[in-house]
Amino acid sequence: SKQTGYTALDYGFVNTAATRSDITYIDGESGILRYRGYPIDQLAENASFLEVAWLLIYGDLPTEDELADFDERIRRHTLLHEDLKRFFSALPSGAHPMAVLSSATSALSTFYEGKTDPDNPEHVETNIIRLLAKLPVIAAYAHKTSIGQAFLYPDNSLGYVENFLRLNFGVMSEPYEIDPVMARALERLLILHEDHEQNASTSTVRLVGSTGADQFASVSAGIHALSGPLHGGANEAVLQMLGQIRESGESVQRFVERVKNKEDGVKLMGFGHRVYKNYDPRAKIVKQSADEVLDQLGVNDPLLDLAKELEEIALNDEYFQSRNLYPNVDFYTGVIYKAMGFPTRVFTVLFAIGRLPGWLAQWREQNLDNKSKIGRPQQLYTGEPERRYPA
Ligand code: SDX
Repeated sequence: SKQTGYTALDYGFVNTAATRSDITYIDGESGILRYRGYPIDQLAENASFLEVAWLLIYGDLPTEDELADFDERIRRHTLLHEDLKRFFSALPSGAHPMAVLSSATSALSTFYEGKTDPDNPEHVETNIIRLLAKLPVIAAYAHKTSIGQAFLYPDNSLGYVENFLRLNFGVMSEPYEIDPVMARALERLLILHEDHEQNASTSTVRLVGSTGADQFASVSAGIHALSGPLHGGANEAVLQMLGQIRESGESVQRFVERVKNKEDGVKLMGFGHRVYKNYDPRAKIVKQSADEVLDQLGVNDPLLDLAKELEEIALNDEYFQSRNLYPNVDFYTGVIYKAMGFPTRVFTVLFAIGRLPGWLAQWREQNLDNKSKIGRPQQLYTGEPERRYPA
């Protein structure tokens, strides 16, 4: 403001007292990410999505029996109430899938009146199962609605990721063949997204949950936060950026110059991070698997080469080096999702499906293990001193 000289930047989220958590560790300088102590690359390589979800929520890797029971309980909850399906036809078919996902998640809670008490451990644990089981179904229905295709019912004989692929790409008129390469590649990507400490959407889930709001309301709020292009929406924005560069015929060098000159606020989407001032370890894994996955899917996408060229130029440019700007998790994921057949507007929905276990784990930690007080971010008042209303 004029009196204090503070800039707009200072009016962002001031660093509140640090949130305590045992779940995820990030070292931004060294580019380290661990879920409950396990390095992200070991989990992405060896674990299943539900195994990592259990680890995040309950603190240790599940035994074989625990995982089998967890998987079975989730399969038995995949059906949506038939009334909820009417919800999708109430929205314009061109509605953005993230808007559908967040609203339908909120609407889901209306089917569980009286069974969403945050102080009832039985309700909390059952709603973890319900959300893990139903969010992928809602996400697939949001995708199907956006392309004008009929919904399929979940098939409980399939695994978590396989069921999700079939709900997205299967059609009523013929059997759907699961591609194991695609299933494993998607599972690895989803694992990379499962948690990430106190990012904007997870902080939103915790803040909403701290008021006593239930898991459905908290997760719905998290989906809204994730949709912004500076956060989860960046994976969609990267593909739009790559597509615009390609269509415009603009050279990569010229685009990078525009970014450096901040022309019309253009940014190199998928680059930079609040915490990582080094290469995002997830981006490293995604980039490594991009070539392999596109190869195995028999897809040759010039946008992948364009992304690599952009990275090469940026990493060797003083503007990006001096600001510690590196590729983040969103830089390469979209090219793989596109190769799998997902529309660009569904990419951030995939981020939400991946992030759900982390949101549920962080909400549960705050709610059950160390019940915290209601969230109240601090403020530094920089406005006018007291003054009198003119007589
Ligand atoms: C995710 O927090 C998490 O953990 C998030 C996430 C998760 O898993 O939950 O990791 C997922 O959201 C990843 C981030 C996805 N967003 C994007 O890719 C959007 C593009 N990135 C930027 O908007 C930005 O880098 C942020 C928002 C990600 C981080 O912003 P910061 O740390 O606040 O950085 P900043 O805005 O203070 O920028 C510092 C400088 C500025 O330049 P100067 O004013 O010093 O001249 O770097 C510049 C910025 O203009 N800058 C960029 C840039 N990012 C920062 N310049 C060009 N392109 C960019 N991408």
